[in-house]
Amino acid sequence: MAITNAYRVRSDAVALRSFKTTGRPSAIAGMGAYVPERVVTNFDLEKTIDTSDQWITERTGIHRRHHAEPGTTTFELATKAARSALDSAGITAKDLDMILVGTSSPDGPFPSVACRVQDELGVPGAVAWDTLAACTSFMYGLSIADSFIATERADTVLVIGAEVLSRMLNFTARGTAVIFGDGAGAAVVKAAPKGSGFLSWCLGSDGRGYAQVTCGNIEKGAYTAKDATPYIDMVGPDVFKFAVDIFIRQATEVCQAAGVALDDIDLWVPHQANFRIIDAVARRIGLPLDRVAINIQEYGNTSSASIPLALEEAVRNGRVKTGDHVLLAGFGSGLTWGASLLKWV
Ligand code: ACO
Repeated sequence: MAITNAYRVRSDAVALRSFKTTGRPSAIAGMGAYVPERVVTNFDLEKTIDTSDQWITERTGIHRRHHAEPGTTTFELATKAARSALDSAGITAKDLDMILVGTSSPDGPFPSVACRVQDELGVPGAVAWDTLAACTSFMYGLSIADSFIATERADTVLVIGAEVLSRMLNFTARGTAVIFGDGAGAAVVKAAPKGSGFLSWCLGSDGRGYAQVTCGNIEKGAYTAKDATPYIDMVGPDVFKFAVDIFIRQATEVCQAAGVALDDIDLWVPHQANFRIIDAVARRIGLPLDRVAINIQEYGNTSSASIPLALEEAVRNGRVKTGDHVLLAGFGSGLTWGASLLKWV
């Protein structure tokens, strides 16, 4: 069981940090995605776990998830998503100044997954590193890309969210085993015309909630130690309430910072943690579900990969047009959160 510390998570216990972007604007110029072939349905899980398709579908919205074959590395998934993002942006890896990978499931504490991707792409020299902010990692990565481009320290940045979470699941713990999946998504971020791309950000963390979502025996430093049990654990109902609050507050903050009304969001791409969380927030902010990107039914919660997988699918299906206001928003272990409002280029 997760450690239930005295701190009851409430997103309104902290002031949020939000700001309008300054300096040279940047935007997403191409998206890529990759998921492992193996599909694990709720019916498959029913055979070995004390659960049911009905419970999983009704409580989470998940029908299937993709699990990598044992021995699959995170950098393999990340590299495949990276190559498809480069193609979609019409650039080659040689154009990259920086490679950022958001992941909670690196193949080891070091080297970074980003350096492995860089080696696969054959482009030594670019700055490459990983960001660990659980499900918020991809958003933090995008914000770093935006900042480096704003200050003209980089022109083109590859941001990847990649996870092999199936190797961190305790398949006897039904509260977590049914939730998570594997996959990778990537975005090429480039300088953009004034008034477009990332318009505003809301980023933050509240370490008082550190015990709400954990992996391994964090009180003993036992992640890689011999007696470690590096399994994901969480206080689901607490995180659920926090998630609804923080999504609403972030949406409000980034829209205010950008001077855009909530009604003018054309597409919200949320972290895919639970359909009920997404639905509750959409109702509260008055956004019809046809303006929300939802693919949790197919992939489950893929942590850092979840936002880029949903955004890539929306772009591929023609749901995002030039000039659209797109809200990206995530939250995760830490506790962490990050959102941005973009004007799509
Ligand atoms: N199958 C059947 N029953 C189950 C299952 C299952 N897979 N899982 C839990 N249950 C049971 C529980 O044992 C409990 O039974 P009881 O009433 O007899 O004790 C009952 O269902 C209710 O359990 P809850 O945990 O209260 O269920 P809830 O409706 O809250 O759903 C869930 C659990 C899906 C985890 C939900 O709380 C949730 O989505 N929380 C948010 C999680 C999240 O957003 N995490 C993001 C961070 S992840 C990261 O950062 C890496």
